[in-house]
Amino acid sequence: MAKEATIDTLLEEERIFYPPEEFTRQANVKSKEIYAEARANPQLYWAMQAERLDWFRKWDRVLEWNPPFAKWFVGGKLNACYNCVDRHLKSWRRNKAAIIFEGEPGDSRVLTYWDLYREVTQFANVLKELGVGAGDRVAIYLPMIPELAIAMLACARIGAPHSIVFGGFSAEALRDRINDAGAKVLITADGGWRRGKIVSLKDNADAALSQTPTVEKVVVVRRTGQEVNMQEGRDLWYHELMAKAPVGCPAEELDSEHMLFILYTSGTTGKPKGVVHTTGGYLVGVSTTHHMVFDIKDSDVYWCTADIGWITGHSYVVYGPLANGTTTLMYEGAPDWPAQDRFWAIIEKYGVTVFYTAPTAIRAFMKWGRKWPAQHNLSTLRLLGTVGEPINPEAWMWYYENIGGGRCPIVDTWWQTETGMIMISPLPGITPLKPGSATVPLPGVEADVVDKEGNPVLLGEGGLLVIKEPWPAMLRTVYGDDQRYIETYWARFKDKGYYFAGDGAKRDYHNYYWILGRVDDVINVAGHRLSTMELESALVDHPWVAEAAVIGRSHEIKGQAVAAFVTLKARAFEELKAAKRSFKEIEGELKAHVAKKIGAIARPDDVFLTAELPKTRSGKIMRRLLRDIAEGRVLGDTTTLADPAVIAELKAKYEARE
Ligand code: WTA
Repeated sequence: MAKEATIDTLLEEERIFYPPEEFTRQANVKSKEIYAEARANPQLYWAMQAERLDWFRKWDRVLEWNPPFAKWFVGGKLNACYNCVDRHLKSWRRNKAAIIFEGEPGDSRVLTYWDLYREVTQFANVLKELGVGAGDRVAIYLPMIPELAIAMLACARIGAPHSIVFGGFSAEALRDRINDAGAKVLITADGGWRRGKIVSLKDNADAALSQTPTVEKVVVVRRTGQEVNMQEGRDLWYHELMAKAPVGCPAEELDSEHMLFILYTSGTTGKPKGVVHTTGGYLVGVSTTHHMVFDIKDSDVYWCTADIGWITGHSYVVYGPLANGTTTLMYEGAPDWPAQDRFWAIIEKYGVTVFYTAPTAIRAFMKWGRKWPAQHNLSTLRLLGTVGEPINPEAWMWYYENIGGGRCPIVDTWWQTETGMIMISPLPGITPLKPGSATVPLPGVEADVVDKEGNPVLLGEGGLLVIKEPWPAMLRTVYGDDQRYIETYWARFKDKGYYFAGDGAKRDYHNYYWILGRVDDVINVAGHRLSTMELESALVDHPWVAEAAVIGRSHEIKGQAVAAFVTLKARAFEELKAAKRSFKEIEGELKAHVAKKIGAIARPDDVFLTAELPKTRSGKIMRRLLRDIAEGRVLGDTTTLADPAVIAELKAKYEARE
């Protein structure tokens, strides 16, 4: 495995950081008894947590479990938008900041819960006017601006499942997601700001929309203000619709199992999966974990830096925080714009107290140097979090000292698009921390590390991470594809009924979990999930390419980087040679092609042209050996190769490259 070297260092990590007494005294969870209580009666535990929401009708049964299909809070009726907005209007919170928005150019907007109510109900009326009703899917392709949260909540209010496509995805990726979900309406913007430049979302949307037969109307938010194409009869300006829309719209009384959203994520095949989350269980899961893990108080200014286009943004920028009546901060742009202290400037400007980001960002901050945070007053911070990939102890320590000033606990949270909510994480008032470990499963979560047969492995041994019991925020299925849901997550340990997470893990002698990274064909680049298959299909889609093999190699900042080994078609090779095109140029073109097909986040770091790929006698590409080459390791077992000379030559050429 790519990470073997770091894993060993991780397991030698012996530093322990105990929760400061002061923190424990004020913590939302002060006692370890909660773990035993949850274990003694998980359904009762989750039913008690469900009481934190407002229900129009209480559930009849907590859980209906027909493995692997779960229904939570069966018979209950609620509305996610009502829980995130309306119920806070009954108290002083109506005047509390719900969303603090900071635009990349430096513009800023604060929406109180009352403001949010006004805009969300207006937009819900707009959607209804456009013919959107309960069950209709709405695609959203927006930058990190308040209208994104408003659009989500408006959808939730009328029971229309949203499908948010990250603004960094390409036109083709958007098209495929719209078509898979059969979305009726698309909400987008003219553009968004990124490092001082405009990301032309509407242009991308237009390219996608030429091949999306289900989309009837497109709502366009004006953000960047440049000229965009507006198609008569199809495209409508958000601000014009809102100007005419009345305030006040009833929140639909929806079934607990009503679909709240679809979110696409990369899997082991070329086609992204539409992960389906439903209303009641999801909202119970995210509000409970947000409250406990981030120790949220009404006085907090909470900032999760994730884009809402990812699950972290869904659960911990929007639904969890707003359900809890929290002030949640949204920032539109890049961490290094206009300078490398932008995040710290934002923390100082708004007095952020709880800060949640990704290890890849922390490693970039480390590289930029401590002088940047040192220029700002970060003393309001009281708790830090990380998510998305394993954090190396060095980065943990840097974060702890330079951002947390040595006083803030760090919650390293393990979870996935599919789990909907945080699953393994410290509770900051009671869990001693070890840098690099997500520590232990949360109360009500039953995890384990098992071997290929599903038997628990010994402490200290590597194995596969599984979840043994259903949990409220679990995905319900893959949109339109129950079979894929069963095969991807449940077939592997069918007899035991375990959920297979796709991650490797170890436990140490304190029973702490150390996540070792993906064990499938998913690579995690800067906290973003990419499928090697999807990358390979994007490459072979290029007319020059004959074959492609993609692997993840370790990368100092991004955790993993995309390395592609590519063979060219003989004719293309001859033509390129005749045209005197350099390898560099060809590689550059192939990188750009992948970015165009999937999005800039998928642009390969390396493309390496080769005459042949190492294959087994049955013709399977041996990616394991390519990984060895890319990481500069001694080659593993090569005995099954059809032609061992291929790999030797490839290795020599790879090492000789500049
Ligand atoms: C990885 C993001 C180690 C893991 C919420 C998982 C982590 C994948 C951690 C899910 C962590 C997430 N430590 N690895 N704290 N958090 N991962 O769906 O490989 O974008 O399977 O959800 O990220 O990525 P996803």
